[in-house]
Amino acid sequence: MFSKSEKIVRKTKKYCIKTTYAYPLTIKSGKGCYIQDHVGEWYLDFNTNVSSCNIGYFHPEIQEILGKYSKLGAHKIAGQDFYTEEQADLAEKLVKITPKELEKVFLINSGAEAVENAIKFAFRKKGPIPGVGCYRGFHGRTLGALTFTNSKAVQKKNFPEISHNSIQFCTSDDDPNIGQFEDLIDREGPPAFVLVECVQGEGGYRPASKKFIKTIRKVSKKYDFPLIIDEIQSGLGRTGKLWSFEHYGVNPDIIASAKSLQVGATITSKKYDPDEEGAVSSTWGGGHRIDMAVGLKTIEIIEKENLVENSAKMGKYTMKRLDEIKENYPEHIIDVRGLGLMIGVEFKDKRKRDFVVNECFKNGLLVLGCGFKTIRFAPPLIITPKEIDKGLEIFESAVKVS
Ligand SMILES: Cc1ncc(COP(=O)(O)O)c(C=O)c1O
Repeated sequence: MFSKSEKIVRKTKKYCIKTTYAYPLTIKSGKGCYIQDHVGEWYLDFNTNVSSCNIGYFHPEIQEILGKYSKLGAHKIAGQDFYTEEQADLAEKLVKITPKELEKVFLINSGAEAVENAIKFAFRKKGPIPGVGCYRGFHGRTLGALTFTNSKAVQKKNFPEISHNSIQFCTSDDDPNIGQFEDLIDREGPPAFVLVECVQGEGGYRPASKKFIKTIRKVSKKYDFPLIIDEIQSGLGRTGKLWSFEHYGVNPDIIASAKSLQVGATITSKKYDPDEEGAVSSTWGGGHRIDMAVGLKTIEIIEKENLVENSAKMGKYTMKRLDEIKENYPEHIIDVRGLGLMIGVEFKDKRKRDFVVNECFKNGLLVLGCGFKTIRFAPPLIITPKEIDKGLEIFESAVKVS
C-alpha cells in the first residue's frame, strides 16, 4: 500500500512533465516556519518555497483575506482589461516602497514575465539591439528571460536566443573583470539594457561585489541605457534590506519582482514606461485578486512586524553558526556567504551537497541546492534563534555523515 504522499508523487510522475523536484515532499499545510506533508510529518522550512513565502505559513491576516474572497466570487478576473481595486492598491504600494524615480507598475503572473516585460520596456525605448546579462545569472524560463539565464546548460539546450552579450558576474572588488563592461561597449556600442541580480540566486547564492554593481550603474548612466535589477528571489526583505540593491547604494531604472510578492511585477521609471495603449497587457494581470491582495498584505506584514530587521539580525546569527560548522568540517564545506537570510553554503563537491540536502529532508529540515554544489539557506523572515538552532543541528548532523 502506498501512502498518500507516495500516491501523489507517483501520479505527478505519470501525468506531469518532468521539472525540478528536489525530494518527495508533498505539501498539505503549513504553520509558522513549518510545512506538513500528507502523512502528517512536519518539516522545518529553510527554503520557504524558494523564497516565496517570506512571512511563513498560516498568518492570521492572510487567512482572513482568503476567507473574505471565498464569499465574493469573481476572484479570477481579466485584471488588465477591467479595473480592480487590488491591482491599483498593490501598484500604489510598490511605488511607495521603491526609489522615487520608479513611478509605474505592470503586474503579471510570474517572475519570468516580470523580467520579460522589463526587457520589453527597454527594447521599446532603445530598439532591438542586444541586451547584456551576466554569466551564472537566472532570470526565468520564458524565451526572452531564458536568453539571459546562464545558470545551467540543461535550461537552454536547443532553445533559440535573442541577440545579447554576457559579462562575468564579479563577487570581489579586486576582480579585473569589473572593467569588462565598458570594454564591451567600446567594441560593440551601448546595449539596450543590462540585467543583473545583486545576489545571484539559482547561480549559487553569490552576492555581487559593491564595485561591480556601482560600475554597472555608472556605465549605464554614462551611455544612457537602463539598469534592470532582478529582485525576484532577493527582494522584499530576504537580504536584510527590503531590496537587495539597497546594500549597493544604487537605484535601478527598472525592477523585476515576484516570488514573495505572490505575483510578478515590473516596476519602472517614467522614462521606460511604454505609455501606449495595447503595448503590453495580459488576461490575468497580477494572477488573480486574491494573489494581489495577499501580496499587498505580505508587504504590510513585513513592515508591521519589522521582518526586514529580523532578516538582517537572524541572517547574522545564522551566518555565525554556519561559519562555526564550516570550521568544524573544512573537509566538506568550502565557503559560507550571503546577505541577510539569503545564505549559501558551498560544498567540496556536488555529491556531498546532494547527500546533505537529502539527509536533511529525511530528518525534517527542508533545504535546496543552487549553483553547482551549494545549499541555500532562505528560511521565512519570521524565524527565531531557537528555530535556526534546531535547523542547523539537523544540518550539522547531515554534514557530519556526508
Ligand atoms: C532571480 C530570479 N529571476 C527570475 C525567476 C523566475 O521566476 P518564476 O519562476 O516565477 O518565473 C527566478 C525563479 O527562481 C529567480 O530566482
